[in-house]
Amino acid sequence: MKLKITFILLLIATSLDASIKDGKMLYDIHCKTCHSIDMTGGEGGDFNMISYTKTKKELFRYTLDPASEYKNFGYVASAMPNLPLRVEEIENLVDYIDSLQPFKKWMTKSYKKKEKISLKK
Ligand code: HEC
Repeated sequence: MKLKITFILLLIATSLDASIKDGKMLYDIHCKTCHSIDMTGGEGGDFNMISYTKTKKELFRYTLDPASEYKNFGYVASAMPNLPLRVEEIENLVDYIDSLQPFKKWMTKSYKKKEKISLKK
């Protein structure tokens, strides 16, 4: 039983690892010209920063169709093109962007907790 669980976990970890790798490759081809990951700038936002504040679902929606999502994200116009990507490719890109901030969940949680406390005052 224990062996089975270990095997399944290993399988999940390997497949996530593979999609992150594929996402990184797609990032280099399709996004790098506009989105940095090391704060060096570009026309679009830095993915390290974006990864902090956006959920995987939001990243997916925006990459799929920026032309109809930009208003929901608070932009007055969109300079990002709708890119010819398959759904699976966008999923891998999202896994890659999300992996840039491995402690995001923990940090957002503690941030929200703090916010709640200050609201009580
Ligand atoms: C031609 C430049 C360009 C390319 C290429 C590009 N983007 Fe963008 N992206 C932008 C700009 C500019 C914005 C800011 C909002 C806008 O103008 O649509 C943006 C915004 C975003 C956002 C929303 C960020 C936020 O503020 O919450 C996501 C997610 C995103 N891009 C993902 C991607 C992904 C993934 C790729 C590659 C597959 C990519 N972009 C390629 C220019 C680009």
